[in-house]
Amino acid sequence: MNVKLHEAFQQHFLIGAAVNPLTIKTQRELLAHHFNSITAENEMKFERVHPSEHEYTFDAADQLMAFAKSNGMGVRGHTLLWHNQTSPWMFTNEDGSTVDRDTLLARLKAHIETVVTRYKGEIYAWDVVNEAVSDSGEELLRPSKWLEIIGEDFIAKAFEYAHAADPNALLFYNDYNESDPVKREKIYTLVKSLLDQGVPIHGIGLQAHWSLYHPSIDEIRQAIERYASLGVQLHITELDVSMFKFDDHRTDLVEPTEEMLALQAERYKQFFQVFKDYSQHISSVTFWGSADDFTWLDGFPVRGRKNWPFLFDTAHQPKQSYWNVLEVA
Ligand code: XIL
Repeated sequence: MNVKLHEAFQQHFLIGAAVNPLTIKTQRELLAHHFNSITAENEMKFERVHPSEHEYTFDAADQLMAFAKSNGMGVRGHTLLWHNQTSPWMFTNEDGSTVDRDTLLARLKAHIETVVTRYKGEIYAWDVVNEAVSDSGEELLRPSKWLEIIGEDFIAKAFEYAHAADPNALLFYNDYNESDPVKREKIYTLVKSLLDQGVPIHGIGLQAHWSLYHPSIDEIRQAIERYASLGVQLHITELDVSMFKFDDHRTDLVEPTEEMLALQAERYKQFFQVFKDYSQHISSVTFWGSADDFTWLDGFPVRGRKNWPFLFDTAHQPKQSYWNVLEVA
């Protein structure tokens, strides 16, 4: 078997993969060999664990925890508060009207307490709040039910509830387009204001949904430096490298071209060089999957289009990207 990724980088950071009930079956060997951290791709999200007010469903999440335990892997928790994949009952009263601030805060507290307490001591870091910052325009926060009903302090409250439930878990703010200079400054401003208020937040998650073309290495370095200047830990939380520009909606490719594979390998090498350069700040690097036979990018942003974003191919064999990444270690 090839050199284990997590062993190659053990001096620097954990190497993680997002998993789901299918991939822990179909990619079991690969996962156990190369990775020492996992994240549930969907199984710990609100709608999955809390379908109605007095009903929690933890079976799938528990199975992922057991998989991690039996393979000696750490677990990153994802995610406690998001504008997507949250059960609609959360925001409505029995008569169909919208809940008030106090009710929503009480429900949020109950949710976070229950989920975080269940895995207390077993999850080393939680993405407490996911994607709250707006991508465009002047406003800092994206419009959401959370913002509308609770107000801006929904973020601080979520961190406080999570910290109370597990004081030892590292608590993260997690977002995408994190290397874009404008959004970067918004994320910086948000996290700085939380720190200034004494909110228990310990890190920023850089999702790192990147591509062959975007973002530039300079933008990535600048983002890492800016976030690190806050004195918080950084995790790379959802790394994948799409073969397509975001607005390229071509669907005719059945396998990646040689050029694509070569460019991807070059990009991966540069990314890992940057991660290593900043490994004093970066303690965990997680891919949003592990091999090209299963990726959420097959459905996003173009439904049904195949993509090949990882270090391992559809047969779980190392790509040039894998060898390049190892060179950096
Ligand atoms: C994605 C999952 O991979 C998909 O299976 C699901 O249908 C939608 O969510 N940012 C995040 C992740 O924080 O939770 C998302 O995961 C990908 C983008």
